[in-house]
Amino acid sequence: MSSFPERRLRRTRRTPAMRRLSTEHHLAAAQLVLPVFVKEGIDAAQPIASMPGVLQHPLEDIAAVVTDAAEAGVGGIMLFGVPAVRDAAGSGAVAEDGILNRAIRVAADAARGRITVQADLCLDEFTDHGHCGLLAADGSVDNDATLEVYARMALAQARAGAEILGLSGMMDGQVAVIRRALDEAGHAEVALLAYSAKYASAYYGPFRDAVESTLQGDRRTYQLDPANGREGVAEAMQDIAEGADYVMVKPAGPYLDVLSRVSEVSTVPVWAYQVSGEYAMIELAARAGAIDRERTIGESLLGIRRAGADVILTYWAREVADWIRAGK
Ligand code: PBG
Repeated sequence: MSSFPERRLRRTRRTPAMRRLSTEHHLAAAQLVLPVFVKEGIDAAQPIASMPGVLQHPLEDIAAVVTDAAEAGVGGIMLFGVPAVRDAAGSGAVAEDGILNRAIRVAADAARGRITVQADLCLDEFTDHGHCGLLAADGSVDNDATLEVYARMALAQARAGAEILGLSGMMDGQVAVIRRALDEAGHAEVALLAYSAKYASAYYGPFRDAVESTLQGDRRTYQLDPANGREGVAEAMQDIAEGADYVMVKPAGPYLDVLSRVSEVSTVPVWAYQVSGEYAMIELAARAGAIDRERTIGESLLGIRRAGADVILTYWAREVADWIRAGK
């Protein structure tokens, strides 16, 4: 006698042990990367109002931040610089003693191979107009003039000891130009993370507070239109062809479809950036008592993995590393 229904999908969900047996996706601390803000000219760490729990650090903190993350098993730190002075050319990005390049040196020293040292390669924190590139006379962002500065910035970061450069400027040809500049200067070992499908997103709002962005207007002439999915895949394919070692989709949560499509066709590891606005929404909703903070953080990260991310940049990397170790 056959019973109805014959196929009972609840069978594998009956007990915690049965559920663990069937888990498809896991988080690993080694595949989480912690973004870190370093601000020039401060003596003590400062809170960022729109990102509760995240700090702007003085250079003096960086060795300790790196050591702590390394000991927790976090896979990498991504450094962002907040310079004291900005100019039209973004000179502080290229200067050996610019805040980001100094922070890379300190981080590389403290890391001692236990954690990867990564640096944001973009001009927006260093220009007085806040754009990711140099401006032409008509006020537009000059793609090819910017590439020359990116190449010099890449060399400064490589000399400082960065192992992975995060190319977040969205200029055409940036991966190819930087790869060639590094190889010609004897830095073939430095890996390139291309922020390939980087959307012109309102979710970067809190980050702009974190780096004290001076931007007026928006980045729609170089970052992607949130309405476009296919174009995100095209950007990733182009970056792989130019020599990217990793490609990224950013933001993560609102673009899981793009992440999934990129991960299906990519021949290199796919990363995702859970950005400042995604962080702030969960932190602030939890503080308001609307959601369970830890469960929501975990679910948001698992969703990003399920969609196909190998590595995730998240402001919760350090905390989540402890949860994973505790078996939570
Ligand atoms: C550019 C850069 C941005 C972010 C990372 N790299 C800002 C932008 O493109 O406007 C945003 C990250 C976040 O929101 O957490 N240097």
